[in-house]
This record gives sequence, C-alpha cells and structure tokens, in this order.
Amino acid sequence: MSEAKIYDVPAHYSAAGTRNSPEDYERRYAQSVQDPDAFWAEEGRIVDWIKPFTKVKDVSFNADDLHIRWFEDGQLNVSANCLDRHLAERGDKTAIIWEGDSPDQSRHITFRELHADVCRFANVLLRKGVKKGERVTIYMPMIPEAAVAMLACTRIGAVHSVVFGGFSPDSLAGRIEDCESTVVITADEGLRGGKSVPLKANVDNAIRTPGGAGVKTVIVVRRTGGSVNWDGSRDHWYHDLMAGESAEHQAEAMNAEDPLFILYTSGSTGKPKGVLHTTGGYLVYATSTFANIFDIREDDVYWCTADVGWVTGHSYLLYGPLSNGTTTLMFEGVPQYPDWGRIGKVVDKHQVSILYTAPTAIRAIMREGDAPTLESKRTSLRLLGSVGEPINPEAWEWYHRVVGDHRCPIVDTWWQTETGGILITPLPGATALKPGSATRPYFGVRPAILDNDGTLLEGVAEGNLVISDSWPGQMRTVYGDHQRFIDTYFKTFAGVYTTGDGAKRDADGYYWITGRVDDVLNVSGHRMGTAEVESALVSHDAVAESAVVGFPHDIKGQGIYAYVTLQAGVEPSDELRKALVAHVRREIGPIAAPDAIQWAPGLPKTRSGKIMRRILRKIAAYEFDGLGDTSTLADPSVVDNLINGRKAG
Ligand code: WTA
Repeated sequence: MSEAKIYDVPAHYSAAGTRNSPEDYERRYAQSVQDPDAFWAEEGRIVDWIKPFTKVKDVSFNADDLHIRWFEDGQLNVSANCLDRHLAERGDKTAIIWEGDSPDQSRHITFRELHADVCRFANVLLRKGVKKGERVTIYMPMIPEAAVAMLACTRIGAVHSVVFGGFSPDSLAGRIEDCESTVVITADEGLRGGKSVPLKANVDNAIRTPGGAGVKTVIVVRRTGGSVNWDGSRDHWYHDLMAGESAEHQAEAMNAEDPLFILYTSGSTGKPKGVLHTTGGYLVYATSTFANIFDIREDDVYWCTADVGWVTGHSYLLYGPLSNGTTTLMFEGVPQYPDWGRIGKVVDKHQVSILYTAPTAIRAIMREGDAPTLESKRTSLRLLGSVGEPINPEAWEWYHRVVGDHRCPIVDTWWQTETGGILITPLPGATALKPGSATRPYFGVRPAILDNDGTLLEGVAEGNLVISDSWPGQMRTVYGDHQRFIDTYFKTFAGVYTTGDGAKRDADGYYWITGRVDDVLNVSGHRMGTAEVESALVSHDAVAESAVVGFPHDIKGQGIYAYVTLQAGVEPSDELRKALVAHVRREIGPIAAPDAIQWAPGLPKTRSGKIMRRILRKIAAYEFDGLGDTSTLADPSVVDNLINGRKAG
C-alpha cells in the first residue's frame, strides 16, 4: 500500500493563497486533537452568531450517558449565515448557477435575489402556519426552488426532511409518516436526461397511503408545465403563494442545538433512520471543512454534482458553499445527456474551478473513452473531488489525467450522512496524494482502527474504522428513536463512534477505506440496506424468502444481488424475474432495483436459522474457493446447489 504512486502537492498549490501547507496541517491537526476546545472555539467564529457561545464542547460517547453538545449556549441562524451576512460585500455576486437538464437552459441567481426569494418563502411558510421545530418534507428536482425551500425552513426554524426525487411514493410516505410532517414541497415534474419524473403524482400517491394521510398542505413548483391532478383544499402553486409575499423577513434566532434537518438513510437493519443534525455544530463543520478542503478562493465557481436529496447535496452543494459566500453550481441533468461530454461542457460554459463528483460517474464517463471529455477545454478547473464510495486507482488516475489534465489535485473525501461533513481527506495545499486513499483526518477528527474484539490496533493495520472523539458536525440522534442511535453507533465498541466501514492504515498514517463491514450496500454511491430490499422482495406474493448481498460491479461499485426462494408451487421464469425487479422499483425506487436475481431453492442457514451472508457474498462474487466452514449449516448441500445455480446463470 505505502508503495503506491505518490502525487506531491503541485507547485501552483504551494504558492500564496493556499489555505494549508504541509506544516500548517501538522501543526493545526496536533493542536486540534490536543485541545479541541481551543481549536473549535476559534474555528466556531467562522460563522456569525446572534448570541456568541461561551461553551464549546460537552460530549460523552459512553453508551450509558451518551450526549453530544457543541456551542450549546450560542444562537445563530443558518439562512442568515448563507445569505444576509454576504449582502453587503457580495450582494451582486452569483450565489447559484443553475444549469438545466437541457444545455440551452441556465440561470444566475445573486445572493441578493436568493435572499429575497428565501425571505418570501419563509413568509409563505409562516402564513401556512408552519412553526419553529415543525418538520417539512421536500421532494424536489434539482432546481433553485429546492435551495429556496431548504433555506426558508432554516430561516424560520422549521426542520426540513429532503427526500430524494427517485424514491417511490411508498418510500416517501414512510418518511413523511416517521417525522409527522404535514407540509410537502414538490414540483409538477422533474426533468432528467430529457425524461420527466412525476413528482406531484408521486406525492398524490403517497398521500393516499396511510403513511401520507397527515399531509395538509402541498406546495408545487411549476417546472415542466406537465398536467397534474389538483386538490384545491390542499395543493397550492408556489408562484401564486410567492407573488403576494414581502421580501423581508428577520431570521429566527436558533439555539445551537436546535434541530436543523432530518435526512433518512439506510442502516443494516430495518427501516431507514432519520439522521438528525442540529444547527450550530453542523454549520460550523460544513463551513470549515468546505473552506479548507476545497481551498476556497473568492472567485471560485464550485460544482458539486450530488442531488439535494443526499447529504452531499446538503453540506457541499448548499450550506458549505453559501455559508462561505461561494458560487455554487446546481445541475438538473445527468452526465450522459445529451452526450457523454456534458460534464466538461458545463465546466467550460460556467468556468467551473472545482468539480466534486462520485466515482460511479467517473467510471461511467471513463468507459466511453477520452474523446467525449476531450471535446471540452476544462482549463478553468484547478481542483477535483470524489465522494460517496471508494475510488479505484484506475478511475482516480483517469480523473486526474483526462478530466484534470494532470494539473488538478483530487480530494478523495470520506464521510457519511451521520458525520454531517467530511472526516478523512487530503487538503490540496498540504497533502501528498495516493490514488485510492482518502489520506488523513480533518482537523479535530480522531480515527482509529479496532479489531473485531475491540482491541486498538496501532501503526500499519486493518480493521473496523471508528472515531474516538466527537466533531461538531456529528449527528445527534435518530429522529424519534434515540435508543437506536445508541445501539447502532455506540454499542459495538465501547466509548467510540462506530462508522460501519472497514479501513487500512499504511506506514505513512494514510487511511484506505475498504468499504462497509455491515449489511449496508453502496450502489452508485447511494446507500441501500439489504434488509430493505429483502423486505420489498418478500412483499411480493410469489416470494417466500430472500437474501440480498452486494457484488462487485464495474460502474456502480457495488451491484445488488438477490437470492430468492419462491413460494411452493410457483415456477421460476424470466417474466417473474422482471416482475420482481419492477416490484422493488415500485416499492423503494429505481436505485434499489436488483442487478441480478438467482433462484434459491434453499438459503445457507445455521441451525439457529441465521443466514450466512458471508457465503452468499462469495458466491455472488464468483469466489467459490475459501467459502470457509460450511459444516455448521443446517443443510450444507444448499451451498453446492447455489454454486451450480451461479455457474449456470
Ligand atoms: C462510503 C456519503 C470510500 C462509506 C457522503 C460510507 C466512501 C458511506 C467515501 C456513507 C470515500 C463515502 N471513500 N468510501 N471517499 N465516501 N463512502 O451516508 O462506505 O450516503 O460509510 O454519505 O459511503 O454514505 P452516505
């Protein structure tokens, strides 16, 4: 590992204007972990406080006395930090560049214009009776109104729950029900790659289920003008509501530990959990990490390709950039539309200086060869970023050589919905890069590697990645289920935050994330619980039982492999296979669709009935050697059966 190719900090990053040199990093990192209170007291001032904090950190990772509080006696407002504080100096600067699905459509929105719209929409929400602390569900395409809606919630202290537009009505309803929201903000339709997505119709369908029954108000942005059903007692056009509202609104003073947003994410068991982030710590962490990791300069045009429905779209499309007064580009479309050169063309069109995207997108573009990308110049780029899943060295090298023209460092940023912001990452002016390694911890972050017994491993090691102390952006609870928060993250190993990822550490202290060690899949950088896909499959009449595992996939990183046992008397067929895939798409959404279904007359279970997933993962990966001891299985012959099925399929 440590012999991997090393890319030193390029000369143009050692010049003045770069935020962190190698020496700065070592010094500030040491200070940040030796005296976190002092470090974060200072860093906490990068945001504006309505009432300054006097306490910095109050944390215990002890499961019996778990608490995580940062800046707890301070008051601030996220929207005021993203908008109002920039008006004097940057009022006419572009806050959001919107690039539509079609290459002919784009818009520039200044900080002043965005501020006015957010104030108007804050007034709309208040008029609709939305109160501080109330949950508002946002189910939107990638249009500026999504940012307006999120910022307006934070402005009045409402807690937003953004649900990715690719989720099904049932998934949406489950999330609406879990956080008891009565207001949904959506659009008539989304537009991606020239195809429309029926968002309003999905909301209507969600509301028809018991989970969505509590919704009283639906606010609809007109995006495509496509026809929609309308319930006059409940549905309102965004533009009608906005037309009459004042563009003035005084941002609400929020306590640092007041809830800011909920974002549902998949765990290794059960339903998705509502990850809750709070106001002060989250904003400080998003603002600090964004500035340092992307080495932000005043004239940057920054582009993060993530959807607002994921945490990256919260911290590094919206809050981190806007809090820093950075121009952020929001892209409605997809990399392959109208052709595979789109990303480079958007970079040229808007003179993007920083591009932050996911390995799955890089691999998909790379597969088309260099030519589509080389149709653009990309001379405006100075920094590249990667997020969401491990980036294989081949994709890293291609990203560096072709997209970045050998010139741009790559920040491979490791983090999670739970962490609120990036925890392990290079800093462009400070860190020599190794393709495939997320490198070193951010300031204040204390990663450690434990073996399965919880023993701390020093030096060169491989095992479970845990974090030994809190950082301000850490999630505070699972909404409505604090016990699940404690059980999931603080019980596996005592006194530390368990990430669910495995990692190696090399002789230079660099971290290499090896992927999830639990039953969470990472499909195209999207998290999916095996349990969710299994429960969708068994909800189909033909299915008796199912076990879902990940398997290596060239583009997606991981694909979804489902073993399905049919009900007695049901015959397997290709039609049934298609029907099951369609069923999962309907139940959860297209991102959960299995890539492969194997008929399994039996599943490998222990005598106590536990499914041996380790064996299923190996068979799916076509690794038939080293299946380990199968003698403890209730019926060892099922393994041969599955291997034969795999070879035949
Ligand atoms: C994975 C996305 C390797 C990891 C921000 C983590 C990564 C999960 C990286 C969280 C990276 C994210 N290298 N793996 N740079 N970034 N992951 O919650 O398995 O959608 O636990 O947050 O993605 O996914 P989530």
